Amino acid sequence: MMDQIAQLREKMNTILIEDKATLERFRQDFIGKKGSIAALFETFKQLPIAAKKTIGPLLNGLKNEAEKKFKSAASILEAVAPAIQQPVDVTLPAFGPAIGSLHPLTIVQNKISSIFQRIGFNLAEGPEIVGNWHNFGALNFPENHPARDLQDTFFLQLNPVQLLRTHTTSVQISTCTDQSPPIRSIAVGRVFRNEAISARSHCFFHQVDGMYIDTAVTFSDLKGTIYHFVEAMFGRATKLRFRASYFPFTEPSAEVDIHCRLCQGKGCTVCKQSGWVEILGAGMIDPNVLTNCQIDPEQYSGFAFGMGIERIAMLLYQIDDLRLFSENHLDFLRQFKGCLGFSDGAVFAK
Ligand code: DAH
Repeated sequence: MMDQIAQLREKMNTILIEDKATLERFRQDFIGKKGSIAALFETFKQLPIAAKKTIGPLLNGLKNEAEKKFKSAASILEAVAPAIQQPVDVTLPAFGPAIGSLHPLTIVQNKISSIFQRIGFNLAEGPEIVGNWHNFGALNFPENHPARDLQDTFFLQLNPVQLLRTHTTSVQISTCTDQSPPIRSIAVGRVFRNEAISARSHCFFHQVDGMYIDTAVTFSDLKGTIYHFVEAMFGRATKLRFRASYFPFTEPSAEVDIHCRLCQGKGCTVCKQSGWVEILGAGMIDPNVLTNCQIDPEQYSGFAFGMGIERIAMLLYQIDDLRLFSENHLDFLRQFKGCLGFSDGAVFAK
């Protein structure tokens, strides 16, 4: 009897249940009242008590295995039944691949660099990890300036004279050292600051930094360039103002505000009821910076400006939380589908 059980198990295991007909045949052959297992149970009844004790568990085991196989095959066939009933029409057009969209920061970055490239600025590049000299020293930051502090800047643990650049102004130094005037360039990229993450600040964000160095460059050239940028970016009617400010690397320095786009200058939470929002810092390049890059300040002068790309994007698209740019919510990102940011030369703002 043990041999019969083993043979039946082997036979059962070789059966592949692929359709309902095979399933029904399996049920009749193995589980049904007239099936082979039921027949074995009939023979079992005739056995002496001692034999029953050893054969009983084996026979029950076989019966359980058969029922398990039947049930799992039945549920699989049930699940795939609709697909089998409705075969795929292979002549239907295929689903296209899902196409993503550009990140809003890439779109705004494209817009900004496109505006400046059209008026003769070249794209300059620089590394995200720089030395103290490129980020601070050459840019005329005094030794005790708070920005040089661990609280504000990420220094590399292995090599504390290296740091994550806190502004793209560091690219000015490598560009000025590598090239000689006239230089007209913009640098775009990520910058890092040791700040708590909130709706208004982040430990990394993006900046565009620009400069123009030539003989007899004046503050009027800076103003003309910034007026052009604001008009192309935000529209012709946008009001702007220059405010006196301070940066170690420019003298004189200014900050530029535009009329708040959310409240049309009437005052709201975004502009802190002032009607104005700051969009960039700028100024005439400090002669010390030129000297640090082996450019003679007697012969050459220049202007520079820098802005946060997130800030511009927030104003342009009325986004009120900086964290949205780095959290990758698809609902947020999908809103920018189809935008590229480049333009054929017309004013961008709409
Ligand atoms: N680097 C400054 C910042 O991160 C922005 C800036 C201001 C850049 C004035 C400049 C400039 O090039 O001239 O806040």
